[in-house]
Amino acid sequence: MDRIRIRGGNRLKGEIPISGAKNSALKLMAASLLTDEPVTLTNMPRLADIGAMTDLLMQFGVNMNVRRGAGLGQSDTMRLHAARIESAFAPYDIVRKMRASFQVLGPLLARHGEAKVSLPGGCAIGARPVDFHLKGFEAMGATIELADGYVLASAKGGLKGTTFEFPFASVGATENLMTGAVLARGRTVLKNCAREPETQDLGRCLIAMGAKIEGLGTSEIIIDGVDRLSGIEYPVMPDRIETGTYIIATAIAGGDVELIGAQASSNGALIGLLEKIGTEVKQTNRGLSVHRNGVRPTAMDVKTDVFPAFPTDLQAQYMALMCVANGTSHIRETVFENRFMHVPELARMGAKIHVDGDVATVTGVETLKGAPVMATDLRASVSLVLAGLVAEGETIVNRVYHLDRGFERLEEKLSGVGAEIERQQA
Ligand code: UD1
Repeated sequence: MDRIRIRGGNRLKGEIPISGAKNSALKLMAASLLTDEPVTLTNMPRLADIGAMTDLLMQFGVNMNVRRGAGLGQSDTMRLHAARIESAFAPYDIVRKMRASFQVLGPLLARHGEAKVSLPGGCAIGARPVDFHLKGFEAMGATIELADGYVLASAKGGLKGTTFEFPFASVGATENLMTGAVLARGRTVLKNCAREPETQDLGRCLIAMGAKIEGLGTSEIIIDGVDRLSGIEYPVMPDRIETGTYIIATAIAGGDVELIGAQASSNGALIGLLEKIGTEVKQTNRGLSVHRNGVRPTAMDVKTDVFPAFPTDLQAQYMALMCVANGTSHIRETVFENRFMHVPELARMGAKIHVDGDVATVTGVETLKGAPVMATDLRASVSLVLAGLVAEGETIVNRVYHLDRGFERLEEKLSGVGAEIERQQA
C-alpha cells in the first residue's frame, strides 16, 4: 500500500492550483441521471471517489467519456449520457466505499420510478444514518422497504410534491430530495435545508437544466416539478475544503502561497478565524493569496457547524494547526460524533490533546516530532500530512488511499511549493 513521506521544516512559497469540488462533482454526476440528454461537467477533479461514482453510473447504463487535462492545474472534462436507465441497482460493493453513492436514489426514483440501493458505508465517522433521506422520499409518496442491507424504494406513479422539514440541515438529504423533487408532480417545500456552497452548486446546475428551484442558499427551498430536464455543460465549483486545507498548510508551515482558482466567499469562517491568529488571506484576480510570517499562530477556539459556520471537513486540519499554536484551544465538533480519530495519531507526533465528549482541548507545543502514523479517514489523514510539514524529522503517513479519495495530487501540489514530500509506492 502506498505511503507518504514528509520531512518537516520547509516554508511554502509559490502557487497551488485548486481542483473542482469533490462534494459538488459527485452530486452533479448523479444528477446526470435526471435527463436523457448528455451532461458535460468541466473542472472535474481526478479522485478515487469520482472513479467510484463512475463505476456506479455505468451500472445503470450511463455512457461516460472523460477528456483528461494534461498536467497539474488542467482539469478533466466528463461527458455523461443517461439515454436510458438500464438498471436501478446500486450494489453494496460500490456504495460501501463511498457514502455519496446514496445520492443516486433521488434521481433514480424521479426518472425511473424505483431503485434498489445499498445502505452506505464511507468514512468511519459516527453512525451516519440515512433516515432523513428515507423519511423525505416517503413524504413524497415513495414506498420504502429495508431488506438485507438494501433500500428498496418505489414511486411507480412518480414522486409527489410535499412539505418536508429536515430534523437537521443534512447536506446529503437536502440534495437527494432536491434531485427527486425537480421531476415530481407539483410543489415541494423543503425546510431546514443545508445551505452549503456545494448544495447551491447542484441547485444552479439543475436550474440550468430547466428545473424550477427557489431559495438556494437559504434554509427553505421551493421546487416546482417539471416534466423533463435537458442536457447541460456545467463547471464544477472550486473545492473549498481543498482550499481551506492549503490555507491551513501555509499557516502551519509559514510562507506565501497563491491558491489559483480559490474563492474567499465559500471559506469565510476559516479566513476570518485565521486572520485573528496571524495568517493573512486576500482575494486576488487569480484566486487567494495566503501569507504567514515566522510568528507562531495564537491558539483560538472553534466550533464546527453547518454552513456558513466553520466546516467539520476542516476540523482535523485546524487541530493540526492548534497543536503548534501558542496557548490552549478548545475544538468542538457538533456535526459528526466520533470525528476525533486523528487525535491518537497527532499524539504520536507529540501533540497534547485531551478529548472529552465532543470537545478536544489542545495545548500547543513548540515542536512536533515526525513519526509513522496511520490515516483513518479522508480529512483526518490530511491533518497528519499538515502536522508532518512542521514536525522535526520524518513523518510517514500510511494507508494513503483515504487521501486519494479526496485530495488530487496532494504530494505534487505541496512539493510544488517547496515542501519535502513524496509518495512511496508499496
Ligand atoms: C456531506 C459531505 C461531508 C461533510 C458533511 C457535513 C459529501 C459527499 N459529503 O456529508 O464531506 O462532512 O456533508 O458538511 O458531500 N444525518 C442523520 N440522518 C440522515 C442524514 C444525516 O442523522 O439521514 C446526520 C449525520 O449522521 C451527521 C449529520 O446529520 O451527524 C450531518 O450529515 P450530512 O450533512 O448528511 O452529511 P453528508 O451529506 O453525509
